[in-house]
Amino acid sequence: MKSLSSNKEMKQMVGIKAADLIKDGMKVGIGTGSTVTFLIEELGLRIKDGLNIQGAPTSYGTKLLCVKHGIPVIDSMQLNHLDLTIDGADEIDPYLNAIKGGGAAHSVEKVIASMADEFILIADESKLVDSLCTKFPLPVEVIPAALSYAEQQIRQLGGTPVLRSALRKDGPVVTENGNFVLDISFDNAPKDLELLNNKLLNIPGLLETGLFLGIAKKALIAYQDTVKLIVPRT
Ligand code: A5P
Repeated sequence: MKSLSSNKEMKQMVGIKAADLIKDGMKVGIGTGSTVTFLIEELGLRIKDGLNIQGAPTSYGTKLLCVKHGIPVIDSMQLNHLDLTIDGADEIDPYLNAIKGGGAAHSVEKVIASMADEFILIADESKLVDSLCTKFPLPVEVIPAALSYAEQQIRQLGGTPVLRSALRKDGPVVTENGNFVLDISFDNAPKDLELLNNKLLNIPGLLETGLFLGIAKKALIAYQDTVKLIVPRT
């Protein structure tokens, strides 16, 4: 669903820069995706040089990478607070509202983002949009029993849901929570994202949306030769 090699240099630049935000002793939420992979690699190097942190991964993929790079892992099941969470995004608007879930990890990502004192997005400039749901479809996680009903309800809200297919497995993507993902596209960008999010969350069996509204207060964005710190438009 997404190319891991696209904008590699920019993702690497911002991933390495984001490691500067992580200080000794912190408990850090660690997102999922190709941009965060560069952060994890950099943290591994800094841990070898003496940095002392613990990481709460947002997916199996991230957990495996943390172990590979020597980052001590804590399980979010035992946590209700983190100092900082850093994660990638699929779309970011000027208010730092974001779409996440291109890696189907958005439900746990939202939990780990929400329990942190600070949630910071990292991305390359291609992720910046004027309005969400314009380029990237909105992922939602749905329990299998609710699939048809959720599809019908989403259509009534004006969206077109597509069941996400697995790449190297027959059939649908099954999330780490045992659920399906519907990717919703819209003919026109939804104007009231809070309302849309609430209506989606009201559908029985729809577990979580990939809309991250008002959670990020900062974003590090990579351009061709620089990384800029962005705050939400007021
Ligand atoms: C994972 O479910 C997603 O939310 C990712 O964080 C998002 O797709 C960004 O991924 P990349 O850093 O690979 O672009």
